[in-house]
Amino acid sequence: MTSYVQDAINAVYVVAVLVFILGLKAMSGPSTARRGIVYAGAAMLLAVVVTFASPGLSNFLLIFVGVAIGGLGGWYWARVVKMTAMPQMVAMFNGMGGGSAAAIAAVEMLGHLSDLTSSSLSLAGAVIGSISIAGSIIAFLKLQGWMTSKPIVLPARQVVNTAVLVVGVGFGLYALVVLHTFWLLPFYVLLLLYGILLTLPIGGADMPVVISLFNALTGIAVGLDGFALVNGPLGDAGYAMVIAGVLVGAAGSLLTLLMAKAMNRSVSNVFFSAFGATEETGAAVQGQLKPIDAADAAIQMAYANQVIIVPGYGMAVAQAQQKVKELADLLEAKGVTVKFAIHPVAGRMPGHMNVLLAEAGISYDKLFDRDEINAEFPATDVAFVIGANDVVNPAAHRQGSPLYGMPILDVEQAKNVIVNKRGQGKGFAGVENDLFYRDNTRMLYGDAQTAVGKLVSELKKAT
Ligand code: TAP
Repeated sequence: MTSYVQDAINAVYVVAVLVFILGLKAMSGPSTARRGIVYAGAAMLLAVVVTFASPGLSNFLLIFVGVAIGGLGGWYWARVVKMTAMPQMVAMFNGMGGGSAAAIAAVEMLGHLSDLTSSSLSLAGAVIGSISIAGSIIAFLKLQGWMTSKPIVLPARQVVNTAVLVVGVGFGLYALVVLHTFWLLPFYVLLLLYGILLTLPIGGADMPVVISLFNALTGIAVGLDGFALVNGPLGDAGYAMVIAGVLVGAAGSLLTLLMAKAMNRSVSNVFFSAFGATEETGAAVQGQLKPIDAADAAIQMAYANQVIIVPGYGMAVAQAQQKVKELADLLEAKGVTVKFAIHPVAGRMPGHMNVLLAEAGISYDKLFDRDEINAEFPATDVAFVIGANDVVNPAAHRQGSPLYGMPILDVEQAKNVIVNKRGQGKGFAGVENDLFYRDNTRMLYGDAQTAVGKLVSELKKAT
């Protein structure tokens, strides 16, 4: 009887895994991403519910209370979070995954220290999960603004960090050799410390890559825990964890590599170079900021053949996407070709701009990524930058700049550039932007929603 129940449960796990994979596939395109999230959520729910039927499962009440607290907390937070605070929420949720993996590993090791296979797999899961939760908490604090987002560079950090990691893992191995759980305590303390030390020297601008890598690590830790669980009483649930962990690990690793590529950096450079800790040397900006009012900006755009709109973090903060859509529609009605240039790390999370513009009803065929659109700037009459800064900063072409090497949108090559921002605020990387001082650039000051709203009114007046 028990084996029939287990077989049925396993069949449901297989279904859940297939739905996970379909969900991941759907998440790879903006038009299907929402469906992907629903699929993945449904698969997770299915896997969790069916696990309650596992023969040999006990402590139902405790598990239920844990699931209820986590579920309600997550549901509430996800509902109230602002779009701009999404990266830190993802960091925190992911950290919870790493913490859970480390906790499961602890339970496994406390119970099965003598089983070398389980305990060494659990140890590996505990190492990765501990680094992931501690690092994710630092990422959260930096992105939330509760600690400085600048790199915190401690003296001799590479030596100290390596020593903490090696000694920490040493304690864990020693626990396995002497079969005494006491040594797991310094093991966990040092591994958590390593996660903190690893993340402190990384600046806020690199956090998306860091979060994505921790996400991949969490997946790997869960997978390793799953392998360890396979040998225990809930064996088959372990297989489901292995598959889920591997999927998260693979997807997170790919996303990490894609983001690093978008910034023209290697993942090890992101983690170990303390990027942004030193100020730029030389090259002060030259020229003057030249303001433009909404009426003149609207005329310039209305008489253009082509306008390329470059949205950035400021558009997200101002929630200006609806106004931007109105602006694009009005310009198109006047015969202007309107395109959107989307930088892969514009905003504060992967796909941030795509999500907002899609929400406003702008069709995907008007969105172009960097490689597709850069060649078009020289023949473009007006490049309209809305709340973007780092992703259009020509300092990225200049050796010695903290942004050096980051592929940018070459808006400075457009015939005319209009930049909307509120004042003299720098971008996320804190680097001065000489695009704003160039001869062909005009500054349209104001909150993005108000400023684009004024452009819309001016264009409506003219029709
Ligand atoms: P940023 O470089 O952050 O620049 C945004 C600009 O928007 C600021 O200069 C600010 O200037 C302006 N702004 C702020 N609020 C505004 C408002 N209400 N209305 C109009 N303008 C406003 O943005 P970006 O060009 O999108 O670059 C993104 C940066 O974030 C990159 O450095 C990237 O590495 C980093 N990052 C990206 C991600 C991902 S994956 N997308 C995640 C975390 C960090 P004022 O203050 O003068 O208005």
